[in-house]
Order: sequence, then structure tokens, then C-alpha cells
Amino acid sequence: MAPNIDHYNRRISYLRVSVTDRCNLRCIYCLPVKDLKLLDHAEILSYEEILDVIIAGTECGIRKVRLTGGEPLVRRNFVRFVASVCRIPELEDVSITTNGVLLKERAKEIFDAGVHRINISLDTLNRLKYAKITGYNCFDEVWEGLQEAEVVGFSPIKINVVAIRGVNDDEFHQLAELSVKKPYHVRFIEYMSIGHDSKWKHEKYISSDEIKSKLEAIGPLHKIQRATHDGPAERYRFESAKGEIGFISALSHHFCPSCNRMRLTADGKLRPCLFADNEVDAKTPLRNKCTQQDLKELFREAIARKPRQHHVRMPDGGECLRPMYAIGG
Ligand code: 5AD
Ligand code: SF4
Repeated sequence: MAPNIDHYNRRISYLRVSVTDRCNLRCIYCLPVKDLKLLDHAEILSYEEILDVIIAGTECGIRKVRLTGGEPLVRRNFVRFVASVCRIPELEDVSITTNGVLLKERAKEIFDAGVHRINISLDTLNRLKYAKITGYNCFDEVWEGLQEAEVVGFSPIKINVVAIRGVNDDEFHQLAELSVKKPYHVRFIEYMSIGHDSKWKHEKYISSDEIKSKLEAIGPLHKIQRATHDGPAERYRFESAKGEIGFISALSHHFCPSCNRMRLTADGKLRPCLFADNEVDAKTPLRNKCTQQDLKELFREAIARKPRQHHVRMPDGGECLRPMYAIGG
């Protein structure tokens, strides 16, 4: 059997790497209500260690990497690290997920380092609401970062919108309309309960189906066929739109049967599923000077631990122990 095929015949080719658990925002749905526990710096993998894990991953069939956080752009020398990742010949695709706050200054360097696809988290187009959701008055920085990403040539630019009833559901039309005139992919993400102190409540959850029917008031949404490296988003397009609409429905439609991903947390754990805490520790072996062969074995073990599906169900929303900023969004 190929080293990257799991017990359920899924080919694991996508690694999401959290380079830090630090973030310059405090989004209501991501950070715990009390006791934000950050990792000691010594617990966080060095860039060299992360590169070793990624390379072992490529030897097991990883072809696509996404760099995330926390907020990846807050880590020192991130751009230099990005360039090293982009030089790994087996990787067909390297992308990043950012909150966009520091993007304006870094967009060009990141693009030149070899990353051409970017996801930016933006849940509202309203400055005040942005500050309420994220804790910081940074809407303008993010908006300018987004424009700069377009100018330097990122494509596609995906905008991640976490859909929360009573918070941004009055703006879905406006957000979706961004995909008409601009080549942006606006993706609505179902609000998930993640981390110990999540404020998740059933009343705040909105299913993708509900969002989709709201958006259909703007005009018909045409389905786009999925491509090989597609993530879990269901893709649509408004008539003659430059961009797309996506729905990421972790709770209402399980995409587990087509899951192709593995995660590496900032503290060096290979995490087989976003919603499961059965991680494989790579940090201890790395610090004990393990070989690339050992790392490959750890990868195989993590792939073998991938559950058939997560058990997060409505209406309780489910729980996993680590919050998003610690797992990597
Ligand atoms: N539910 C849904 N999406 C979340 N994200 C962070 N926490 C949650 C949650 N509880 C999203 C962010 C970002 C991506 C990295 O993960 O909005 O777009
Ligand atoms: Fe930071 Fe992203 Fe979490 Fe918001 S969702 S606090 S931007 S890590």
C-alpha cells in the first residue's frame, strides 16, 4: 500500500502546518474565554525542525502545504522560511492562511518567495464590527492587505468568513457580492465548537444550506465541479462573477470521506484530524535527533490514526481539546 493511503482508502497529500500559536488578534470564536495558554517558545518547533517534518511528509506523499498559525506572519523570519518551503521540489502547492493584519507590508515578499495562493480571514466589512469580533481595530489594515495581495498577483485570493448568527448574518449578501466584481473566492465557514472554552452556541450556528438559500436572493448560484487539490469547500459562482462562493460545512455535511489532510501543530504534533486529539508527537523524536526515516514512520503512524470520520454532531456542536489557534486553522 502507498505510504499515504489510510485505512479508509483516502490519499493523504495535504499538510497544514501551524508555525506559531501566537496571534495579533483575539477572535471571539477562536480564543478561549478565559486563560489563554500559550506555548513556551522552547515548545515551538524551529523552522529547521518544521522543514524536516515537511520533507519527511513529502517522502510519504505530501504534495501540498498550507502555512497557518495562530497568525503565521507574526513569527520572525517567516518570509525566509516560506522561501525554504517553496524550494522543496516535491511540493506542488504552498499556500498561507493569514488574518491579513500584516499582509500589506509582506504580500510582495511572500509572493516573490513562491507562495501564490492566499486565504485571508475576514468576517465583516464593517470597521466597528471587525473590532468587536477580533478585539482590534484593524479592518483598514486587512482591507489594504487584501488589495495589495491582488496587486502583487495572488490568485486565487480566498476570503474566509465564519458565519455567526446575530454577528455577521446581516452582511452575507455584501460579503458574497465581493465575488462578483472581484476575483475573490468568498467562503462561508460553519461556526464550529473548538477548544475548551468555546462560546459556541447552537443558536449562533448557521448551516451552509441556510446561507446558500439566503444568497440565492442575489441571483442563481451555479455549481463548480471540484478539482483534484480542492479542499472541503463546495464551490459555486454567481452568473458572470469574477470570483466564487464556497461553503465549508464541517458540521452539516461531513466531508470526512474525501479528507486528504494531516496537520502539524506548532508544538510538533502530527494531528490526524481537526476534531480528534489522537496526535503523534514528532517534537520529542526531533529533539532526540531522530532520522528522516524515523520521521517517515511517525507520518505513517499519524496517517494510520486518521479516524473514518469525526463525531461532531448537531445540536451539541462537539468539542476537541485544543483551540484553533493551537491546532492551526
Ligand atoms: N469555527 C469556524 N472557523 C473557525 N476559524 C477559527 N476558529 C473557528 C471556529 N470556531 C477559522 C478562522 C480562519 C481559519 C483559519 O479558521 O476564521 O479563517
Ligand atoms: Fe487569530 Fe485566526 Fe484565531 Fe482570529 S481566528 S484569533 S486571526 S488565529
